[in-house]
Amino acid sequence: MRVNVTVNGEAVAADDVWEGESLLYVLRERLGLPGAKNACEQGECGSCTVYLDDTPVCACLVAAGQAEGRTVRTVEGLAGPAGLHPIQQAFLSAGAVQCGFCTPGLIVAVHDLLERNPDPSDPDIREALAGNLCRCTGYEHIVAAVKLAAAR
Ligand code: FES
Ligand code: FES
Repeated sequence: MRVNVTVNGEAVAADDVWEGESLLYVLRERLGLPGAKNACEQGECGSCTVYLDDTPVCACLVAAGQAEGRTVRTVEGLAGPAGLHPIQQAFLSAGAVQCGFCTPGLIVAVHDLLERNPDPSDPDIREALAGNLCRCTGYEHIVAAVKLAAAR
């Protein structure tokens, strides 16, 4: 089947999509957007987080057909023409990126958090990011990055 979707502001179509194919597969393998990562493919790690109609979702759990006619924003869509988004820059400044596999999903989740709550407390941050697993950093630098991004 063909899936028509607006991704990062551009109307695109993916062809030959299998009914059981995930939105994550379509983004990565058919549309050339490898930012969202495939780590668990079970909705457990948050590495594949993207916006679907302004709501963060695990793209590995969304059937591609469910995205028909809808709007998707990936981590690639957060950076502007001037360069990295301030959240991305804060992750670098705070040393919150090690292997980086969790980072794109975290960036989208933090973006959503700061849209809803521009000055989150530590518990707010940890609760908002509870669905995003990181095996490297121990989370302290990630919390620091969120606070830095909020301050900026
Ligand atoms: S790859 Fe989707 S939640 Fe882990
Ligand atoms: S930086 Fe490696 S999983 Fe988070």
